[in-house]
Amino acid sequence: MDKLSIIRPDDWHLHLRDTPYLEAVVPHTARQFARAIIMPNLQPPVRHCDDASAYRKRILAALPDSSNFQPLMTLYLTDNTSVKEIERASQSDFIFGAKLYPAGATTNSDAGVTSLKHIYPALEAMQKHGLVLQIHGEATGPEVDIFDREKQFIDTRLKSIHEDFPELRIVFEHITTADAVDFVESQNEYIAATITAHHLLINRNAMFTGGIRPHHYCLPVAKREVHRQALLKASTSDSVKFFAGTDSAPHARNTKEAACGCAGIYSAYSAVELYAEAFELADDFSHFEDFMSVNGPNFYQLPVNDDIIQLQKINWKIPDSLDYPNDELVPFKAGEILKWKLINND
Ligand code: NCD
Ligand code: ZN
Repeated sequence: MDKLSIIRPDDWHLHLRDTPYLEAVVPHTARQFARAIIMPNLQPPVRHCDDASAYRKRILAALPDSSNFQPLMTLYLTDNTSVKEIERASQSDFIFGAKLYPAGATTNSDAGVTSLKHIYPALEAMQKHGLVLQIHGEATGPEVDIFDREKQFIDTRLKSIHEDFPELRIVFEHITTADAVDFVESQNEYIAATITAHHLLINRNAMFTGGIRPHHYCLPVAKREVHRQALLKASTSDSVKFFAGTDSAPHARNTKEAACGCAGIYSAYSAVELYAEAFELADDFSHFEDFMSVNGPNFYQLPVNDDIIQLQKINWKIPDSLDYPNDELVPFKAGEILKWKLINND
């Protein structure tokens, strides 16, 4: 088999930043995906429907002329998100969810939620109106070991959210552990998870191979090899609860290669090809299309896309760096060879 044709995929978790960085990255995603769930962690965050509407317009304006790419917007939940705002969001035709960042969990999460009780009225309204909750599932606080944060979040937060709102659709985002796979699998159909390409391709050793490797640092951090194996098994399985969400998170080279480097991996340049690389490792493409293009729309209750993309098995090299305002951007697996290439999209 040296060609793959699949329904055009969507990216169910993406950071695009804002002008002028947005213009540098959005063409990469729009070349491959029809739609993407756009993360709201700008500075200041996208808290209100008006912010989301204005941001959406900036994204559309940054697209190449021929592109039909659709940004699916989200709101950033804070301790003060009102029920009215959730009602407005669910009535809009461009907002598809609201994102829970535990305060302090990751990049631009300072305005996030300090205690779940503050957002219970908003979650109640989301359940009632069918708005999806996207969760950055990591427990915070200096006492929690960074490699245990996801499991702790499941045990101390996620279980109770899901129990208290059993019909609230939840996407547990960018999962990194076998614990998260098992949890999602064991719950009802209202909870699903996204998995990034990088968490399918690297384990935590990649951050330290021969020295410190800042371009392999993201949040949640990559875990042990057994966890990567569990994610690969879940992605390639027949479960409808797992789907692609790149968590592609651009940071300029100088902010990554620094004494205190930013968290985030830029995978959007070759996202579909990186996922193909992972399925190639598992030697099983039987559910590639479901994972990339079907399970996500079904969970979000949106139609699947109506065109296809093609990949060819051919070696090609990811560039060492990409253009980025005032600096450059280092893509995931810069300078490395991939085995699959998208062929009908240039
Ligand atoms: C993201 C970012 O840079 O905005 N970083 C990351 O490591 N994934 C934030 C996030 O999704 O945690
Ligand atoms: Zn993210």
